[in-house]
Amino acid sequence: MTPVILCGGSGTRLWPLSRNARPKQLLSLTGARSMLQLTLDRISDRRRFAVPLVVTSESQAELIARQLVDTHAPDAALILEPAARNTAPAIALAALTAAPDDLLLIMPSDHLIGDADAFRLAVEKGSELAEQGWLVTFGIRPNRPETGYGYIKLGDTLSAGAFRAESFVEKPEAERAAAYVADGGYLWNAGIFLFRADSFLAALAAHAPEVLDPCRQSVAEGSTSAGRLRPSPDAFGAARSISVDHAVMEHAANIAVVPMDVRWSDVGSWQSLHEISEKDGDDNVAVGDAALLRSSGSLVHSDGPLVVAVGVQDLAIIATGDAVLVVPRGDSQAVRDAVELLKARG
Ligand code: GDD
Ligand code: MG
Repeated sequence: MTPVILCGGSGTRLWPLSRNARPKQLLSLTGARSMLQLTLDRISDRRRFAVPLVVTSESQAELIARQLVDTHAPDAALILEPAARNTAPAIALAALTAAPDDLLLIMPSDHLIGDADAFRLAVEKGSELAEQGWLVTFGIRPNRPETGYGYIKLGDTLSAGAFRAESFVEKPEAERAAAYVADGGYLWNAGIFLFRADSFLAALAAHAPEVLDPCRQSVAEGSTSAGRLRPSPDAFGAARSISVDHAVMEHAANIAVVPMDVRWSDVGSWQSLHEISEKDGDDNVAVGDAALLRSSGSLVHSDGPLVVAVGVQDLAIIATGDAVLVVPRGDSQAVRDAVELLKARG
């Protein structure tokens, strides 16, 4: 089984820590290791997993190469996209370079997973189905009507602990998300996929030839040196920019889901970072050179100056060398608004 790490997102929801040049997956949000390094740690057992393949953009290549040195996979192969075209083309490149019967474990590089053993068991379960041609997804029981995730409706049992996915809905609006959570028969899509390379390419041919054909051409016309594949920019640029969820998962009939009982977070907001972090008795989190006095429910994260918050409640205060953000902790729209304001200022 070959792990394929998707490492191309830019991410603005964790602004000002995440930037175009410093995306979420390369940040160390919880301790010393970055989210990419934690992802690679999860598949470090070489008896089970082949050397991983990292799909990323040319612009992130050197930062990533530096982080790989400090993992068990310094020799990971890199596929360097000339432009970001979202996850369907990124996964297509990996599938096109693999052997047809190779099992590919597609993993985002920006998640935290609490329970490594439960993760491994779910992957083992999924591999039986993937061998049979299923496109396997992994499901997490939802605890809130999050609109930033995909929802999978559980269908018939395929084998113990594995189900057919009756439907897949990527990022529903709030009302539908609430109905899915209330229904109880839906799981969040963890964003991790497992399939044979040929099964995925067949699904792309059926549902997204506008992704597959340019990607195939870009690999054929691409160049490889020192373990780095560079698809041809002209051909790759013609691929439709679309996520794998919209391109394939919402349409294919052979989708299976393996529920995964793990602590999982995609750390998409300051709120979710607060949730998963170690807190003091007043529900505060302080990371870096930061202190809180007479405060509660707040997160202070400093990459730069000393930050002292006194008498505040439920705030996120994020300081870097060149920017400081102060927002209500639970208001992720506020961060998007801040980023929009910055774009408008140029
Ligand atoms: N190489 C590459 N190229 N990687 C990419 C690109 C790209 O153009 N775009 C995104 N990625 C990487 C991101 O770095 C991340 O690790 C992963 O692919 C998923 O992309 P996101 O952009 O973070 O997706 P999402 O969080 O909005 O939604 C997906 O994940 C959710 C769970 O976190 C979907 O699969 C949802 O259904 C799912 O619930
Ligand atoms: Mg994500």
